[in-house]
Amino acid sequence: MKLIITKDYEEMSKTAAVIIAETVKTKPNCVLGFATGGTPIGTYKELIRYYKEEKLDFSLVKTFNLDEYFGLGMDLSKPYDKDQSYARFMQEELFDHINISKDNINIPYGLAKQPEKFCIDYENKIKKAGGIDLQLLGIGGNGHIAFNEPGSSLASRTRLQPLTKKTLKDNYESFFKKAGFNKEDMPCSALTMGVGTILEARHLLMLVSGKSKALTIKEAIEGCITSKITASAIQLHPGKVTVILDDDAASELSWSLDLV
Ligand code: PGA
Repeated sequence: MKLIITKDYEEMSKTAAVIIAETVKTKPNCVLGFATGGTPIGTYKELIRYYKEEKLDFSLVKTFNLDEYFGLGMDLSKPYDKDQSYARFMQEELFDHINISKDNINIPYGLAKQPEKFCIDYENKIKKAGGIDLQLLGIGGNGHIAFNEPGSSLASRTRLQPLTKKTLKDNYESFFKKAGFNKEDMPCSALTMGVGTILEARHLLMLVSGKSKALTIKEAIEGCITSKITASAIQLHPGKVTVILDDDAASELSWSLDLV
């Protein structure tokens, strides 16, 4: 596992974008796994800059997103700011601004009528694409990766997963409240790639920012591998794992800060 400690959120985002851009340059038809949440927004801004200023070409890139709220999806009949789907988030924060082909974008469909079948098909689609070359990850306040809440099997696959009170509270504060949602209207389950699915990506790139994540990431990378903190499963990855932290997120680690 490679740790990169950066001075702040901006440097973390730029460092992550360099790694993603290099992946695209080296393999123009690569398969990227994308994540949502506050953490990757700066990275997406930087990727948009790469496209606009340095002509980074996304036309052959395929993408698979980690997760989506169950009950939400791209429903354009709803007022834009009311739609808090991750599909809308990805359009707005990245896909609308780069030359990615719509046919190459895959996001779990939160309005799927048969979620179990959808999840099996999603797994098959990842396999058919040749697997994920690089999977971007954040970490939740409760240590989750994607929506693999505490107690999720470390071998789990894409599935419908109920969300914990902690995740509902965190995500309500970060996103739903601003959009005028009542707490009780927030979806309380999600379609998510499993921990086992994520571990099959060839390169895991985890981003961690802020003091509030410092103890969680310490437990995830220095602690025991446990389904209580599903992010700890990245320790099991047999290949390339890069964790980029800002100084605040790294503040509880035992290692020295000179690891860049
Ligand atoms: P955040 O979410 O980036 O908004 O902190 C991360 C996550 O829950 O995985």
